[in-house]
Order: sequence, then structure tokens, then C-alpha cells
Amino acid sequence: MRLVPAQQINGRLRLPGDKSISHRAALIAALSNGSSEISNFSTARDCASTLGCLRELGISIEDRDGKLFFAGGEKLTAPSKPLDCGNSGSTLRILAGVLAGHDLTAELVGDESLSSRPMRRIIEPLELMGAKIQATDGKAPLKIHGSGKPVPITYRLPVASAQVKSAILFAGLNAEGRTTVIEPSPTRDHTERLFNGFGVPVITNDLSVTLEGPARFNGGAMTIPGDVSSAAYFVAAAMLLPRSELTIEAVGLNPTRAAFLSVLSWWGADISTTDLQTERNEPYGTINVRGGITRSAGDNERTLSRSMIPSLIDELPLLAVAGSQIEGGIHIRDAGELRLKESDRLAATVENLRAMGAEVEEFDDGLSVSGPTQLRGASIDSRGDHRIAMAFAVAALIADGETEIAGSECVGISFPEFFGLLESLVVR
Ligand code: S3P
Repeated sequence: MRLVPAQQINGRLRLPGDKSISHRAALIAALSNGSSEISNFSTARDCASTLGCLRELGISIEDRDGKLFFAGGEKLTAPSKPLDCGNSGSTLRILAGVLAGHDLTAELVGDESLSSRPMRRIIEPLELMGAKIQATDGKAPLKIHGSGKPVPITYRLPVASAQVKSAILFAGLNAEGRTTVIEPSPTRDHTERLFNGFGVPVITNDLSVTLEGPARFNGGAMTIPGDVSSAAYFVAAAMLLPRSELTIEAVGLNPTRAAFLSVLSWWGADISTTDLQTERNEPYGTINVRGGITRSAGDNERTLSRSMIPSLIDELPLLAVAGSQIEGGIHIRDAGELRLKESDRLAATVENLRAMGAEVEEFDDGLSVSGPTQLRGASIDSRGDHRIAMAFAVAALIADGETEIAGSECVGISFPEFFGLLESLVVR
């Protein structure tokens, strides 16, 4: 993909459904007693992986007029071939939790990136719950021998991970008694909100989350809010291009996901949220952005670290790009988890920002970017990672000269419409 600089980004739009919420809504609908109808389901390739795995497990899912219909009341059956999770960590890890609590054997496989990501974080708690899991060096493929009678556990997560928390909660649905997960710092809470929204009470108390099994979902209708992590690229682009005016409607505003809006506001963005509503406990609304940086950030507003990191995790490469335009630059620490995503996102961000002329220091657990810097067009290596490709597409809009992004088709993992929508909003 070749991109040239832009003057403004203008428009009003709605986005396909949130990827994280879509994975969970599909799993819940598949495990419900009653029927479900899901509207605005994510168009991400990752979510298609979840649907493909569920179909292999015997769940009938009909796709009519852009809505997904689940019959409900179906039992998972042993698949006849390995379940292909593609590039999707959420599919593999959360589905492993579902399978751990069912009396069947299944193999979970993924692409090269997913097969190099750490899985001991789910193997350990799911084995404590009674599943037997074979892996190679703690990585996928995973062969899971589930237990029809999983053991309820109280588990302290060694790393803050919503995928691991969710895996344990899904396994806990079939356990007799209380399953509790204690987090080191709060992570996205879609599983908790949707369990409550579909009839399985989950109690959150500070950093602990508990459900009482056995429990079944009711099923029902849901419209998935627009994906706030997809919105982030357009919001940042609008902030960085003065005179932009952008409105994104019906987008998810869950506080465990939307923290980047606060960060961009600290950095001087003119952002407001209006028309707030909820769907199955998930807040959503309209994001309004006017372009330009209206004030300077204070020192501690330019450091992102500790318990803030999980609620910014997928936006950190984008915030590093935006931070290169902030007086005094920005610092990201305590974000070593970024090295374990679809690519090593710290290394990829540092390498590509440097290629565009930014001054960047790399740490084991973060980076510092000096600012403000006039970026220059460059050849960007996306490393096949959707979030890197999209963050650097935003950088390309504010750079001098042309930028070429290698491997840009990877945006389909979370947001196939990205480049088309960007073109329709940009004024050159
Ligand atoms: C996700 C959780 C996060 C996030 C990922 C989606 C989820 O991963 O980075 O894009 O849907 O639960 P971790 O749980 O590994 O932090």
C-alpha cells in the first residue's frame, strides 16, 4: 500500500462490530439454551476464525442479511479435524477455556505468528481445572482433553490478560461451585459484562471476578457496538490533521478499551463523546473529533505505564506514532506484553518510527519517542501485524513524501475496510 500526506480527515461513519465483543458474543450464543441473533458482527478475519471453529464443533450458525443466527440448545461435538484459529489469540485462548470444560478432545492450531505465542498462561489454570493439554514447548498446536466436570478454582493471574481471564471464566461455566480470577491490574471486561447480560451472574470485586457454576446463558438478540480499536486510527488521524472534523457513531466506549481517548485529550486533542447508550451492559456512543492539538501535555501525562497499560494495550503503537507529534514526546513503560502480540510490537514500532526519522529509545518493556518531529515518508515493514500497518498508515498521512507499507493486507485480521474507509475520509 502506498500512501501520500493528507490535509484533513472529514466525515461521519459507523464501524463494523467490535472484534473482542464479537468473539465472546459468538461463543455465548453457541453455548446458550435459547436462540440468538447477532447484528453488526465483526468483519475481522479473526472473528471468522471463531465462527469456523464453532461450526467444526457442530454449532449451526446461519448468516442472513448481515445477521448471525444461532439455534441455541446445541451440544458441542468432537471435531473431525484440527480447529484452525488462524492469527487469532482470542479465538485460541478463549476457545481453549470452553473446550477445557467439555468432555471432548480437540486440537487447536494457528498460523506461524499464533504458533509462536505463549500458551502456558492458559495451560496452567485450565489443567488445574481438570483438563489435560498437550503443547510443544508451551506453544500451539494445543491438544485439549476437556473435562465434563471441571474443578472450580481461585486463580491469581501472573500477567494481566483478558484472554486468560476469559478462558478460565468460560471453563468455570461447567464447574460445580465458585470460579474466581484475580487480576494484577484491570483488563477489558467484556466477558463479565456479556455473561451478566446473557443471564450468568458474574461478580466483580476490585481485582477479583467470580462466577458460580454450573450456569447456562439464555441467548437473545445483540447489536455489537462499533470497534473502538478500529476507530482509534481515524480519531488519531483527525487529531493530527488540523481542520479535520470527524464523527463516529455507535462505537464501543467501554472504559477498559477507550482509555486512548483520555490520553489523546491530555495531549491536547479536541474529543467529545455523546449519545451514550448501552447494549447488554456494553456502553457505546458517538465520538466527535476536531483536528489540531489545542494544548501541551504535562510531564506525567506523557508517560504511559503500570496499571494504565492493559486498557491501552492495542493502541500503544498508534500512541507512539501520535506521541512523536507531542511537545516533549512520550514514554511507554511496563508494556513488555507488546513483544508477545501478533508481532513484537515494540521492536516493530521502534524500527518503523526510526525509518520515518523519529528519535526513539527502546527498552525491554517500552520505548521513548522525542517530539515533535516532522516524520518523513519511508518503507514500512508491517511484519504482517494489522495494528502496525494501521498505526503507520496514520503516520504516513502526516509525513513528508510517500510511504509504502509492506504486507498491508494484514489489516483484514481486524479491519478489512480500513484502507477503503481511510481513502473516503481523507482530503488531500
Ligand atoms: C483481547 C485481549 C488482549 C488484546 C487482544 C484481544 C481479548 O490480549 O491485546 O487484542 O479479546 O480479550 P491479552 O489478553 O493477551 O492482553
